[in-house]
Amino acid sequence: MSAPADVGSRDGSRVKIHLDKLAKRYPGQHKPAVDELSLSIPEGEIVIFVGPSGCGKTTVMKMINRLIEPTSGQILIDDEDITRADPDQLRRRIGYVIQQIGLFPHMTIAENIATVPKLLGWDRERIAARVDELIGIVGMDPALHRKRYPKELSGGQRQRIGVARAMSADPDIMLMDEPFGAIDPITRDRLQNEFLRIQAEVKKTIVFVTHDIDEAIKMGDRIAILREHSRIAQYDTPERILVDPADEFVADFIGHGASLKRLSLSRVRDIELGSWPTVTDDTDRAEAIAALHASDKGSLLVLDRQRRPRTWVDSDHLRRSDARPLSEIGLPLAVVEPRATLSDTLNEMLTARYSTAVVVGESGEYQGVVDIDTINEAIRGMRSAERGRLRRGFDVVDEVG
Ligand SMILES: Nc1ncnc2c1ncn2[C@@H]1O[C@H](COP(=O)(O)OP(=O)(O)OP(=O)(O)O)[C@@H](O)[C@H]1O
Ligand SMILES: [Mg+2]
Repeated sequence: MSAPADVGSRDGSRVKIHLDKLAKRYPGQHKPAVDELSLSIPEGEIVIFVGPSGCGKTTVMKMINRLIEPTSGQILIDDEDITRADPDQLRRRIGYVIQQIGLFPHMTIAENIATVPKLLGWDRERIAARVDELIGIVGMDPALHRKRYPKELSGGQRQRIGVARAMSADPDIMLMDEPFGAIDPITRDRLQNEFLRIQAEVKKTIVFVTHDIDEAIKMGDRIAILREHSRIAQYDTPERILVDPADEFVADFIGHGASLKRLSLSRVRDIELGSWPTVTDDTDRAEAIAALHASDKGSLLVLDRQRRPRTWVDSDHLRRSDARPLSEIGLPLAVVEPRATLSDTLNEMLTARYSTAVVVGESGEYQGVVDIDTINEAIRGMRSAERGRLRRGFDVVDEVG
């Protein structure tokens, strides 16, 4: 388990929220929902919580907001122990986007957004101006939407209004529990981008829960990967988590996606191609069988006279006595060009009958092959290169700080 991250000292940012051995045991529950979680959240950063369903993420958010009381431990905000603060005061400083959005169905969009400002006793004009400003900030049209009810909006629009409502009193902390959970990938991507653009200006301290590791990597300055009972598996920057997962649990959590991400960043022309035994189309069977025996592969690649790859043939194909040219027997090829990404190449390989992709040049001529080992090798190479780069980056930071 990693130690509670001492974020304040390395890069000079202040700690905004500090959780100290925070625990919650619900009445009648055998095990604690949250078991002594210690974590520092730097001011102005987005910290992402990811972890299995039921590991206590929402419980932590609600404790920070004092919607539920911790069983033990402390929560410090700006160095002040908020377990003793007035909950109403506190909630004005903290915007909360609850899981499942939670807009009030009987209130218009404007009234929903105005909830906290009203509590704060703002005058009508100030509230109206703020409501319109926020609807605009989340990319919607105030004139069109302020009088509508939540059920008259799309899911994505409701989520935007949920975010607008949490921002209404300009809190310096935002707790966002799966704010973009229930929307399609394209709208989600757009909302994430808008949100990052806004955050670059307003620099709130944000705790953001998601189930989606890609969202975590995209949105997070830091990611806390939690296991059951909110025990920290790793708390680190996205780069470090991708490159240096702390243990099997973290590697499993990110593993698949992380490798795919690396694969879509590099292309066939960047890697060293493998070679394969070839025969030409007009080679006779006996000669081809001899070539196959002489090689350490189970098949031959058949090329036509212009050296363009045509099929794979193995010994079964060659032993069948028929007079057709080699290019008319055998298995179809997965062919890729040098500019293809490794991720596309892997896709081709997985859908082809023979799991090796053949690389061809501009006029279709054979250049080499990519197989699963080549791809694994490429991933390993990228990982060690990234490690080296990160290490050098940290050395520089350490020297300055
Ligand atoms: N009011 C409650 N009373 C009793 N147990 C509760 C209560 N609220 C949550 N729990 C339990 O506490 C654990 C943590 O729940 P919590 O909602 O914090 O999980 P979560 O990480 O947010 O999950 P999800 O990803 O599914 O939203 C779960 O086992 C849940 O069943
Ligand atoms: Mg939850």
